[in-house]
Amino acid sequence: MEERRAYMGKHIQIFDTTLRDGEQTPGVSLNLQEKYEIAKQLAKLNVDIIEAGFPIASRGDFEAVKNIAKNVSGPVIAGLARANKQDIEIAWEAVKYAERPRIHTFIATSDIHMKYKLKMTRDQVIEAAVNAVKLAKRFTPDVEFSAEDASRSDPEFLYRIFEEAIKAGATVINVPDTVGYAVPWEFGRLIHKIRENVPSIYKAIISVHCHDDLGLAVANSLAAVENGAQQIEVAVNGLGERAGNAALEEIVMALNTRSDFFMNPTRIETTQIYRTSRLVSALTGIQVPPNKAIVGANAFAHESGIHQHGVLEEKSTYEIMKPETIGVSTNKLVMGKHSGRHAFKEKLKEMGYNLSDEEINKVFQKFKDLADKKKEISEKDIEALVEEEVIIT
Ligand code: KIV
Ligand code: ZN
Repeated sequence: MEERRAYMGKHIQIFDTTLRDGEQTPGVSLNLQEKYEIAKQLAKLNVDIIEAGFPIASRGDFEAVKNIAKNVSGPVIAGLARANKQDIEIAWEAVKYAERPRIHTFIATSDIHMKYKLKMTRDQVIEAAVNAVKLAKRFTPDVEFSAEDASRSDPEFLYRIFEEAIKAGATVINVPDTVGYAVPWEFGRLIHKIRENVPSIYKAIISVHCHDDLGLAVANSLAAVENGAQQIEVAVNGLGERAGNAALEEIVMALNTRSDFFMNPTRIETTQIYRTSRLVSALTGIQVPPNKAIVGANAFAHESGIHQHGVLEEKSTYEIMKPETIGVSTNKLVMGKHSGRHAFKEKLKEMGYNLSDEEINKVFQKFKDLADKKKEISEKDIEALVEEEVIIT
């Protein structure tokens, strides 16, 4: 509790990686204009940091990051770079136009990655990390260092490399759960241990970057916040490599809705959430599933008669968030076989019909018969029933 109090009131920084990790979603490729549109919308959403891309990855990525750095103001603009000279120099060439540029450099720290992918010893990895941070620091004061596959790394080695990275000038220390392997208690404990065992940690911000392979990206990120993480890396609609990253909208609305528990607000303009989600979905071509938390079509829809009755009397009976908070004008009562007479009557009123109780009963009976054959009853169906049962008879 004491520790939680120490963090009270401090903003959680939202680092959006839709344009970098999000673009690594299989099948997604955004052009310069599309990336610019998304970056402008992310600035309206008021994210703290936009990771605009991985400039060394391609000419297109380089130009897109440079264009965003030149033309999008507000958030910090970050470019990703592996821990080597060329990546860092190219990343700088792309982000240097930003009001507040950041270089985000990373190297893997788990034994499995160091042995099979990097073919480097622990000492060589530390040396590369330190050199990378020092080089990046010559360009910009804002340097983030990530220990890729941190959650599967030897914690003692992690403490060591983070300490060295901070001494070399890193201002943000990122702890990625690269393969989505961690579970919340374990991940929270890791963040706590990093705070306890990295002597210079007070000079840096702890960030987390969680993947969703086990569906735990959001839970792991929140467990990290509970243990002192102050930056969360997210992507809109949970896009990202494989199963994706922690979803921006879920993280923000969890912190916002449960502010009684988390105490740390974000600076996100939540009324821009829905619009951002739609834009990202349209430009990436990745549809949002209807049951997706916060931004799915059903997130504020009620089908059962009992629920419909409840929300018609008092919305908070079945809604923990107001749809307006995320920029959706109203909740939705879906007319189907579980809908009750109360909601049906409201629907008729909303459609402009002013029917007697007897007429409503007649149409309601027909509506129920139809709902047994059809999953969702549209306004057109209801119009047809009213015409058949009331206007014509
Ligand atoms: O998942 C990961 O480890 C990454 C790093 C580059 C931060 O995306
Ligand atoms: Zn990632």
